[in-house]
Amino acid sequence: MPADRFARPALPTSPVHAGRRRWLAGAGTRAAALAGAALLPAARATASSPEITLRFSHVVAEETPKGLAANRFKVLVQERSDGRIGVQVFPNAQLYGDADEMQALQFGAVDLVAPSLSKFGRIGLPEFELFDLPLLFDDLAAVRRITLGPLGQRLLHGLARQGLVGLGYFDNGFKQMSANRPLLAPQDFAGLRMRVQASQVIAAQMRTLGARPVTLPFSETRRALASGVVDGTENPVSNFWTQAMHQVQTDLSLTNHGYLGYAVVTHQRLWQQLNTHDRALINQALQEALAFGNQIADAQNDNALTALRQAGTTRVHTLTAAQRDRLRQAVLPVQQQLARRIGPTWLQLLHQALARQTH
Ligand code: SIN
Repeated sequence: MPADRFARPALPTSPVHAGRRRWLAGAGTRAAALAGAALLPAARATASSPEITLRFSHVVAEETPKGLAANRFKVLVQERSDGRIGVQVFPNAQLYGDADEMQALQFGAVDLVAPSLSKFGRIGLPEFELFDLPLLFDDLAAVRRITLGPLGQRLLHGLARQGLVGLGYFDNGFKQMSANRPLLAPQDFAGLRMRVQASQVIAAQMRTLGARPVTLPFSETRRALASGVVDGTENPVSNFWTQAMHQVQTDLSLTNHGYLGYAVVTHQRLWQQLNTHDRALINQALQEALAFGNQIADAQNDNALTALRQAGTTRVHTLTAAQRDRLRQAVLPVQQQLARRIGPTWLQLLHQALARQTH
């Protein structure tokens, strides 16, 4: 990927961040030079421009839990700073897809991203893939107790290894399986090419079920389904519906087999340049926006399911407890297979935390 892919694109509002300009003045790397060139429009900022503009890039539609939480964050920050801090939200991979949003953040082309937890493994943080273990979490409350507990905080601190700062987690919800046939039993997956996120745990889950995982960016998934490059995929219903995947998949099976959640991430460089007051304001607004995202996530997925049923394009299948249990048994080996990748210590901490939750 050419590095100039990460130049800050020309946009109606000039980005202004004096601290970032100072950092760039001393930087000698190619990446910094690119980011520096992109920052030149700052010099043309008018008096009415925000002093700081944060660019928040994400890959999903605005009507999803992530899209709505990002927009809520924008409103809160702008209101509380009296317009001194602006937020520009770029949904639907308008600026960067999930193959390059993390690099864009590292190059300073954007300031905030909220990738799914499944997308941190490929930037050298495979322990995040513990969230992808299939049929591990019984409900969102169990997930949140991990993300808000010491294990979740340790994972976020680990982002410093990549120069990143993890500001918090939030949910989309549980993933469902889609294809042009019902996926109710392990044998139903045999031979299917299933689009997956770039997570080795999810790839192993598909292989264990007899399918062939195909890693594709989210923004290319619908086209790949439509053209037959892949036969099926997995996602919460809000993502399925807002990408119009129902037009190209005849069957959605409500497997609730895995969790999809996000971490909001910024760059250490930006975070350290902010003064204490602005950091606190941004962090507080973000925590409120994430709590809002968590509150509405279930409703967004339920509404999407209702709309999908009304559209009448896709048969919706609900698994019986016995069918779900058979799937659980079938994917159990994934934990063993991926233990080395995730790290035995992380897995031990995960299981201890989950066991505590049930007592
Ligand atoms: C997202 O919700 O951010 C995208 C998930 C996916 O890539 O499947």
